[in-house]
Amino acid sequence: MTQRKVGILGLGAYLPEKVLTNFDLEKMVDTSDEWIRTRTGIRERRIAEKGTATSDLAAKAALEAIQSAGLKPTDLDLIILATISPDMLFPSTACLVQEKIGAKCPAFDISAACSGFPYALTIAEGLIRSGAFKNILAIGAEVISGFINWKDRSTCVLFGDGAGAAVLGEAKDGHGILATYLGSEGAQAKLLHIPAGGSRIPPSAASIDAGLHYVQMEGSEVFKAAVRTMSDAILEVAKRAGIKVTDIDCLIPHQANLRILNVVSERTEIPLDKIFINLDRYGNMSAASTIVALYEAAKEGRIKKNSIVVLVAFGSGLTWASCAIRW
Ligand code: ACO
Repeated sequence: MTQRKVGILGLGAYLPEKVLTNFDLEKMVDTSDEWIRTRTGIRERRIAEKGTATSDLAAKAALEAIQSAGLKPTDLDLIILATISPDMLFPSTACLVQEKIGAKCPAFDISAACSGFPYALTIAEGLIRSGAFKNILAIGAEVISGFINWKDRSTCVLFGDGAGAAVLGEAKDGHGILATYLGSEGAQAKLLHIPAGGSRIPPSAASIDAGLHYVQMEGSEVFKAAVRTMSDAILEVAKRAGIKVTDIDCLIPHQANLRILNVVSERTEIPLDKIFINLDRYGNMSAASTIVALYEAAKEGRIKKNSIVVLVAFGSGLTWASCAIRW
């Protein structure tokens, strides 16, 4: 008996309108457009208006994905939303999106930081392949700007807000997800984290004064881990999918830093022209980065029918994930 294949039936994305350029940041912290461009590749990022939450962006991306799949919200069987900037600690942001889009299915969040979207794809693929669910909406969405210390030049220049979504369902004729690969390394959790706001350090006046509710990162250590885990994850998923790295037509990586992508390109020998890059316009949108990049790559015709596409991400946890798809 041949196994059920799972594919992407529709894609959606939503980016806030407000653009924050490197020149705007020059007026906020001791930095320069030249430093940010040469050290990261980022030129500008999108920032959600005050009062806009992750579920607001996610719902807009979700509705587009559902429509492009030719479905209605009530056709969904499950919603999985990846984020590290939920609307609130509970309920899950996925439940809030369910209500906003008029879906009736179960919904839950997952937390895998920047690897969140390929983690969500992997869970959705297994649940559809098992026959337990038919149409699953996977979302990566962040309003991370509220968790950034806008006085800390080492982090505030890197991040942006956004959302992307994909509807997954049964795929035909050998198309769809060929293989997935997930990894975690909790021993490195402190390289990139928000220390307070959970049960370890509940919110208090002291935790706020100490800036413990903001993203804290050891940038150069994260850089080394990113290069290692993303390169290995590409090679591993290619092996699992039974393809050669040279078969990859389009690599959709997590969009953290152009220098990371240059080294990944050298290590894996995937030429830069096969790597989709939009970090110059959006910065690092954590769980939203890979899905927004996939959406744009498909829209721009960089991915065609039969293309071999590999998504790869790494993030806080540490976590990493990859997914090979025949489009
Ligand atoms: N403007 C100007 N100077 C700066 C800035 C800035 N925005 N930020 C840091 N600097 C300075 C530092 O103070 C340092 O100065 P010093 O030499 O006088 O001490 C100098 O620039 C070099 O700092 P480094 O931290 O060594 O710079 P580096 O080249 O490593 O770049 C960066 C820093 C961009 C953060 C890089 O390390 C990086 O991209 N790391 C990976 C981050 C990442 O990928 N995160 C993704 C995970 S996201 C998630 O899971 C949520």
